[in-house]
Amino acid sequence: MVNQIKRENFSGKLGIIAAAAGSAIGLGNIWKFPYITGVYGGSAFILVYLFCIALIGIPVMLSEFIVGRNAQKNAVGSFKKIAPGTPWFFTGFIGVIAAYVILSFYGIVAGWTLQYVFLAITNQFSGLTPDQIGGNFGAFISKPGLPIFWQVIFMAVTASVVIGGVKKGIERFSKILMPILLVIIIILVFRSVTLKGASKGLEFLLKPDFSKLTVPAILSALGHAFFSLSLGMGTMITYGSYIKKDENLGQTAIQVTIADTLIALLAGFAIFPAVFAFGIEPSAGPGLVFVTLPNVFNQMPFGAFFALLFFVLLAVAALTSSISILECVVAYTDEELGWDRKKSTVVVALTITILGAILSQGNGILSSLKIPFLIGGKFEMMNIFDWFITLSDQMLPVGGLLIALFVGWGMKQQMVKDEVTSNGKFSFRLYPIFNVLVKVVAPAAIALVFLSSIFGWFK
Ligand code: PFF
Repeated sequence: MVNQIKRENFSGKLGIIAAAAGSAIGLGNIWKFPYITGVYGGSAFILVYLFCIALIGIPVMLSEFIVGRNAQKNAVGSFKKIAPGTPWFFTGFIGVIAAYVILSFYGIVAGWTLQYVFLAITNQFSGLTPDQIGGNFGAFISKPGLPIFWQVIFMAVTASVVIGGVKKGIERFSKILMPILLVIIIILVFRSVTLKGASKGLEFLLKPDFSKLTVPAILSALGHAFFSLSLGMGTMITYGSYIKKDENLGQTAIQVTIADTLIALLAGFAIFPAVFAFGIEPSAGPGLVFVTLPNVFNQMPFGAFFALLFFVLLAVAALTSSISILECVVAYTDEELGWDRKKSTVVVALTITILGAILSQGNGILSSLKIPFLIGGKFEMMNIFDWFITLSDQMLPVGGLLIALFVGWGMKQQMVKDEVTSNGKFSFRLYPIFNVLVKVVAPAAIALVFLSSIFGWFK
């Protein structure tokens, strides 16, 4: 039986922004954005990223909001309602599966942040050499039990917020957690840019060096735009369905995007000036925040305190994102399969946790188990943890591509305009540009990125 209970809404503008920005701002901003910026050489990469956000990110986010709010349903149900009897619902289906997969490893990495909060509280970085810090990180993630212990705690907190529902759970917690996140990151930026020798880091972020701008850098910028804005898997369709009919969707999409981008940039300003000030290599890759930064904090006055602030920041950012990912799946099982919210949340969170716990063994006891993945034009052998991360990296652009095509070609354009203008209440002067972007530009760019990353074109 389909659940007939009246749908909940976000109470107002602030609630929407807090929840949607909470979804967008996550490990992607504070962990991934700084390290790929480091790997691809700094500010030129940032410029390309901003370009992708503006031209593709905002239109796709607005598309997701349009679909969700119009249909007032979950990611799959929305397509079924707007385009009944067509295969479009498959788009939402890919999204729900992507959400499931992403949360399985997102919960593991979020668990790492809790372990690092613990290490910071108990002051366990101090006195260690850089090699020891690196070794400890490797040893920790390859342990069979400890990462799961933290993952279970993290997933339990996530589930308890989602069980509370849209207003009392998601909105309430986002409104508390997002300001905390902003305050912490501003303190960290202030500390970092006032360190002696910080100016080299500022230069790295502000002075573009286009010689470093390779095609893989551009591809990675677009891929990251999707991940960072939580696009391509129906999260923003689901959140869009909780936005009241008289809210301005276009403005909301722009504000959420600005908030997300601002926090990613602030994370860069919190990290790189400090990294350069202490003469540490900026291109450390995924270990940047778990290995490089503890080294940086070790050399800083009151470093233990700043380490604690930083890892709390990371955990908070991860929490508001994982809430949205879980909600995307729960809204589906609740409305389409007719389970109630409590049963949905418990079953979904539990099975995701089990999947994640198995995947995390890919970093340890199952590390010799390798599965091939077609990427970069060849089959690369990966452990199960990396395999699933790579899978989701590919799924989001596919989802985003289909959503853009749906809004551009699959929906009646009058319906699109009425939704964005709230039936004439707001203006939508940029409609002609939006229309070209979702019909042609975004699908073409995404398809190019997707195919070239799979088949390894333009290396
Ligand atoms: N945007 C989140 C981040 O930057 O960490 C991750 C994410 C959340 C991706 C929700 C996708 C999603 F639907």
